[in-house]
Amino acid sequence: MDELKFHQMTNEELKNLIIRLKKEKNAVVLVHNYQFLEVQDIADYIGDSLDLSQKAEQTDADIILFCGVKFMAETAKILSPEKKVLLSHKDAGCPMAEMITANELKKLKNQYGSNRKVVCYVNSTAEVKAESDICCTSANAVKIVNSFPKDQKFIFVPDKNLGSYTAMKTGRDILLWNGYCIVHDIITLEDVNLARQKYPDYSLIVHPECKPEVYNAADAVGSTKQIEDYVDTHDKVIIGTEIGMYHKLQHKYPQKQLTPLSKKMVCQNMKKTKLVDVAMTLYYEQNEVIVPERIAKKAYQAVDRMLKLSQ
Ligand code: 13P
Ligand code: SF4
Repeated sequence: MDELKFHQMTNEELKNLIIRLKKEKNAVVLVHNYQFLEVQDIADYIGDSLDLSQKAEQTDADIILFCGVKFMAETAKILSPEKKVLLSHKDAGCPMAEMITANELKKLKNQYGSNRKVVCYVNSTAEVKAESDICCTSANAVKIVNSFPKDQKFIFVPDKNLGSYTAMKTGRDILLWNGYCIVHDIITLEDVNLARQKYPDYSLIVHPECKPEVYNAADAVGSTKQIEDYVDTHDKVIIGTEIGMYHKLQHKYPQKQLTPLSKKMVCQNMKKTKLVDVAMTLYYEQNEVIVPERIAKKAYQAVDRMLKLSQ
């Protein structure tokens, strides 16, 4: 089938094709919470970075198709090197993951590292993971840091906001790198105040990639899965993360009163994948994610340590 044919298909036809290809190829489709609803609709699993890495490790499928951004598919490949891992759109990257290189981290370790453990946020390249002691996600950063002895010091890369949130929650000495998410870091206290004025009886939950003045002004802070769990038990909520999460929750809980903290919170990379990309990626088995074995083996140690502490 040529490419043009895919673009002429309706969403219903694309969906049926994807379901057929999944069976024929023994493929599992992992979809991040920020993806379009039409993509979530064909998922085997939908979740946050932690959920999806656990699924990638456990699956017995031959192919993992990851609908999200590159670091997520790379993490799946690190955990399941014998599987073919495909990324739903070849250009879907995470700018934060590119904000520190392995060489920059090596320099930092040389400068400060001898008595500090390196914790890397999963939103990082495989090379940076390979230079780290342990990985974390937004769901478990506090737990990971707390798993070390009380006097342990850390270097945290690349997200300064998740890093400072983790330092505040654990009271640990954490050296921060100046990375950030271009979607969450633009939100200001003024945005929070405006939303609070407009929705005075709503509670506010935000992602820890937001600035300190924003997460300090929120009623709760959590990963996308933790935001979903919060909405499960609250009826009026301002959702402080990428807009896809609000769309997902609005769809899941039509009876609840939900509103986004800001309509500016759109991750263009997460929005690159349409249903047609999923169908084509699976049909042609394109956008295969390759992690060199030497890097993958070292990165595996950091990710595996995290997963063992997250069971
Ligand atoms: P979660 O792990 O909370 O889903 O976050 C991933 C992410 O990229 C947030 O911007
Ligand atoms: Fe990266 Fe931010 Fe997009 Fe998440 S929302 S994938 S951290 S750019």
